[in-house]
Amino acid sequence: MLRDAVTRITRTSSFRLALQSAALSVFGAIIVFAIIYRASESTVRSALEATVTSEQADVISDARDDASILKAVQVATAESDGTFYALMDPSGKLLAGNLALSPQAAQTWNGWRTMGRDDGISLPPHITAIHGLSTKLQNGDVLYVAENASALEALNELIRNAFLAVFGTILAIGFGGGLFIARQTLTRVESMSKTSHDIMEGDLTRRIPLNGTGDEFDRLATNLNAMLDRIEVLMENLQQVSNDIAHDLRSPLARLREHLELARHHTREPATQTAFDEGIAQVDSALSIFSALLRIAEVEAGARRRDFKVVDLSTLLRDLVETFETVAESESMTLTAAIADGLSVAGDRSLLAQMLVNIIENSIRHSPAGSKIFIEAGPRHPDHVEIVISDNGPGIPPEEYTHVLQRFVRIDASRHSPGTGLGLALVAAVVELHNGKIDLRANNPGLRVSILLNDATEHRA
Ligand SMILES: Nc1ncnc2c1ncn2[C@@H]1O[C@H](COP(=O)(O)OP(=O)(O)O)[C@@H](O)[C@H]1O
Ligand SMILES: [Mg+2]
Repeated sequence: MLRDAVTRITRTSSFRLALQSAALSVFGAIIVFAIIYRASESTVRSALEATVTSEQADVISDARDDASILKAVQVATAESDGTFYALMDPSGKLLAGNLALSPQAAQTWNGWRTMGRDDGISLPPHITAIHGLSTKLQNGDVLYVAENASALEALNELIRNAFLAVFGTILAIGFGGGLFIARQTLTRVESMSKTSHDIMEGDLTRRIPLNGTGDEFDRLATNLNAMLDRIEVLMENLQQVSNDIAHDLRSPLARLREHLELARHHTREPATQTAFDEGIAQVDSALSIFSALLRIAEVEAGARRRDFKVVDLSTLLRDLVETFETVAESESMTLTAAIADGLSVAGDRSLLAQMLVNIIENSIRHSPAGSKIFIEAGPRHPDHVEIVISDNGPGIPPEEYTHVLQRFVRIDASRHSPGTGLGLALVAAVVELHNGKIDLRANNPGLRVSILLNDATEHRA
């Protein structure tokens, strides 16, 4: 859960951007520290080297021959406060001074060198390193003069610690800031994607919320909302046109039907009679599509809500079960029911009946002979009534559950069974009119349709 959230955030482009800027700041810090380090190190080092050079020069210039250089080193050592001397013969043996170096070390170098305890020399406790100059004298002896270089070491350490602290801070700020920004953008994008999901589910009235800052997300949301407004208007127009067509074609079709009837009565020719009967059946099916369309439109308009009455759902369901038991039997199916007593909902009785008929008819029409249909109804906590109609027929692929609730949608598998694809659209409209919920589910095998309606027990007189 937490890991998912973190991966989701770390995958966002804003997070990557924040990390990149943190990396850039760290890079900048490295350069700044390198410059500061070079500058301060060379200042400290030059001061140190100036002292060493002058002390060494003092000792050398005080002496005129080998004996006096030995003496001069002895005097300087005795007077030394913190300066280190080592006078060694060519084999590396210490002749005078206060610093014992290994013979190899003494022989092998010339010039500036920094040494610490690691180099095998013994130093007073408060000194961590010394830095000094070794010079070959004319007689082959070597004179090494060094100063306390703890300050140089301390500077190194100070800069290293300061750098680590700054590095850590910049990284933490970059990372934390990245997470924060990413989470904020993610929340906005998430709310957009949730809204578009709702819209895709069929709720075209939803709009993407703005946060009023006028930022790029707000601008995007405004544009998308304007687009949705436009789509909604177009959809309404389309709806209106199809309703108008259905409405306006009804009377000419009804007249056509009358003429066909009349013509049929005036012919004795059986072939012509069959042709007229066919024609009348076709007109009837067109008329039934139109009236179903107009009925859905009327239900969606919601005016029927005014005439809602308390409907005895238990009795309604039992009557339907009785009727459809016979229908199912004639199709070699069995229909069983378990209906609780005293269920009632506030609604339109005939629309509720039509809704249930459409669902039961679907189970009978779209399932093969021998299938079982089960109708169940009972109270659902806290204040709902649930009706479940299930069958063990072929069912509907889950990705089509929302789709089949739309007008004229039929699954390919049922191309050959009778129907217009308007049955479930009316069901959905009636459920919506009653502020209910419809849920399609797999019955493994088959389809399970559940309708949740508001319990009207408390409205009962
Ligand atoms: N109980 C069911 N079993 C299998 N498929 C079903 C069932 N109910 C509905 N369908 C599928 O959903 C489509 C839409 O149903 P509906 O709107 O009632 O139209 P139709 O007029 O085709 O019955 C049907 O064509 C069918 O493919
Ligand atoms: Mg149907």
